[in-house]
Amino acid sequence: MLRTQDPEVADWLMREDRRQADSLTLIASENHCSAAVREACQSRITDKYAEGYPGRRYYGGCEVADAIELVAKQRAVELFGAEEANVQPHSGTTANLAVLLALAGPNGRILGMALKSGGHLSHGYDKSHSGMIFMAAQYGVRADDGRIDLDEVRRLAKEHQPMVIIAGGSSYPRAIDYAAFAGIAKEVGALLLADIAHPAGLIAAAVMPSPIGHADVVTMTTHKTLRGPRGGMILAKRDIAKRINSAVFPGAQGGPLMHQIAGKAVAFGEALRPEFKSYQLRVKEHAALLAGHLREYGLDIVTGGTDSHIVLVDLRKADVTGAQVEERALVAGLSVNKNAIPGDPRPPMITSGLRLGTAAATTRGMGCDEIRKIGDVILGLIRGDSPAAHHPTIQALCNAFPLP
Ligand SMILES: Cc1ncc(COP(=O)(O)O)c(C=O)c1O
Repeated sequence: MLRTQDPEVADWLMREDRRQADSLTLIASENHCSAAVREACQSRITDKYAEGYPGRRYYGGCEVADAIELVAKQRAVELFGAEEANVQPHSGTTANLAVLLALAGPNGRILGMALKSGGHLSHGYDKSHSGMIFMAAQYGVRADDGRIDLDEVRRLAKEHQPMVIIAGGSSYPRAIDYAAFAGIAKEVGALLLADIAHPAGLIAAAVMPSPIGHADVVTMTTHKTLRGPRGGMILAKRDIAKRINSAVFPGAQGGPLMHQIAGKAVAFGEALRPEFKSYQLRVKEHAALLAGHLREYGLDIVTGGTDSHIVLVDLRKADVTGAQVEERALVAGLSVNKNAIPGDPRPPMITSGLRLGTAAATTRGMGCDEIRKIGDVILGLIRGDSPAAHHPTIQALCNAFPLP
């Protein structure tokens, strides 16, 4: 139908299919969701307005929307062992906005990890709503080992007296000590928000420590390691769930994207199966292997390794920038992203780092041998080999491990 009615868009979408099939994504925030998830996301329920919550909608005809949202919520609660879930956030950023509106309020004080240290825009960056609406203080990581300095977090928390402390980041490869964060939050009377956008799948599968039981509220994206459709989600303790719900709707959003919520329900169902745990174990094993392989050949890895799917490469000694390697990688058929490293002397569009992630390659079924081959290609690209010379290796891997 699309091809006949709108060949222009159909062609572009076909091209994206080919691009994904013929290249390998090592972008840590991306994954490939299942055909079942994609089918749910393109269903007719995209037409339905369902402002409000199950049983309390502002539109008629919501009985199916109610049922789907309840399935998604129940599965989310079961998957993470949470008290309450809100599956309506359109994205990780709106999930964070809603939580900060609920728990800090306009002009409320918040404390999060700085963007340049691996935090996210929505954790108080001054050019984001999170830095404009809220009074944000920012903590960093230690320059020598790239780890969160809990003493600095405590010092800033005492100084700034935040209502909300945010634990989590976009390029932090290590497990976070949520108990220690909760202790600091308690000392200053703050609530703790754990943003697990990146490691959500690893945490759901219990291959990384969970913030549940420590954090008052947990936000995440559903499309990274969790391998669902694009979207966000919030888990909350029962006593604050009502405030969170009101902050999502009507606070931060209008009608929920019911087709995406259907996709989330399917993805959570997949994540509850035993195969999901073995998948996450492989994701983690592959990241450790990749970090070890790159180190063995002389590259510096921020924090010396990883506890998650993320490997953050420090290129300072290699006489090449993150932007240069990103460009070379594209020619070879690899999608990677340049990334600032702690204390990066270069600007954000150049950077001295490379962020790699193993979730998508593992979804394609690749194993340790393939990860070593990918590591060799990255080493070659950093050394300055002709990127085109590595293209056949990556193409052969893509052909042998098709998209789900
Ligand atoms: C830690 C963290 N929080 C929030 C987000 C925001 O997600 P979205 O792009 O869905 O708004 C991201 C996205 O990369 C993230 O890494």
